[in-house]
Amino acid sequence: MSRASLLVCLAAAVAASHGMTLMEEIANAGATTLVELLKNTGLDKEVNSGYLTVFAPTNDAFANLPDNITQRITGNATILGAVLSFHATSAIFRAQDAVPNMLIETLLKDTKIRVNIYDDNAGGALVAVNGARVLKADIPASNGLLHVIDRVMFPPAGSFYDLVAMSDLHTELKRIIDSVNYKSVLESHVGTFFAPTDDAFKAFGAMLMSRGVNLDGNDVATKEFIDYHMLDSVLYSIGAKSGMYNTWDHGESLGVVMNANGTAKINQANVILGDIPATNGVMHVLDSVLIPEPYATSIVVG
Ligand SMILES: *[C@@H]1O[C@H](CO)[C@@H](O)[C@H](O)[C@H]1NC(C)=O
Ligand SMILES: *[C@@H]1O[C@H](CO)[C@@H](O)[C@H](O)[C@H]1NC(C)=O
Ligand SMILES: *[C@@H]1O[C@H](CO)[C@@H](O)[C@H](O)[C@H]1NC(C)=O
Repeated sequence: MSRASLLVCLAAAVAASHGMTLMEEIANAGATTLVELLKNTGLDKEVNSGYLTVFAPTNDAFANLPDNITQRITGNATILGAVLSFHATSAIFRAQDAVPNMLIETLLKDTKIRVNIYDDNAGGALVAVNGARVLKADIPASNGLLHVIDRVMFPPAGSFYDLVAMSDLHTELKRIIDSVNYKSVLESHVGTFFAPTDDAFKAFGAMLMSRGVNLDGNDVATKEFIDYHMLDSVLYSIGAKSGMYNTWDHGESLGVVMNANGTAKINQANVILGDIPATNGVMHVLDSVLIPEPYATSIVVG
């Protein structure tokens, strides 16, 4: 048998054993909100015409979105189409192929899903895609593969630097990053970035002033502070556990506390907005500036 005819036979066998199409499997898995949205946008035809891997958020995942986000997505066909296209790839992705920080191109032009593998707290591993947990993996369909996930994914709007620059919460952080020419670091470093708000810097500045300390113009200290806000791993909340995490570059660590009610603390700071996807990792917004050693001892305690 020629290679070509063997492949045809194999394809036919696969189709026969998995008779249902992706759209049928999505419905069968209970992801009926996704089915409805795909039909509303006409993307159902695309899902059934190609050979795709689809990440299907559960109905709860859509229901749990804040109302204003739901309105923004469903009120604009272009945005809805973009969000849905971010949930499919023409690559074949099986859970067993997952490698930490692997990037999967999606049907939304120039966007990629980041894969992470975390400890599942039960002696096993969990696979996450842009911070969404894969609940059910590798459901075969006649024209692709389906994974059920626990959250709706959003494409990154840019690098850490871009996210800081486009937010009106972080004008001071942007000024500080620019003052030491750290833009390229925040564009390229893959990991986690904790971004304090302007209010956090205001309180920090007042604290320094009360201690008679001035860090302005001290580039070494400024870089140490910025580095202390970065982890060398991509830590979405789904994979976070209470404990110590190594920061980037200086061998220091941050204390992470995950509370049962879903809130999180990084040292003394509260995460006030978490899991913002970036092209180079994940960003979390903090209400307080993190203070590395030796400054924590000399300024805060001393
Ligand atoms: C949605 O509402 C929340 C809480 O009121 C607000 O913080 C957030 O900026 C809003 N998002 C959008 C996209 O309007
Ligand atoms: C939908 O969103 C796109 C992208 O943000 C925007 O360009 C377009 O004007 C919006 N359409 C409507 C009808 O609001
Ligand atoms: C969540 O739990 C922590 C620790 O018990 C507590 O300090 C915090 O106030 C709680 N936050 C909310 C919003 O319930």
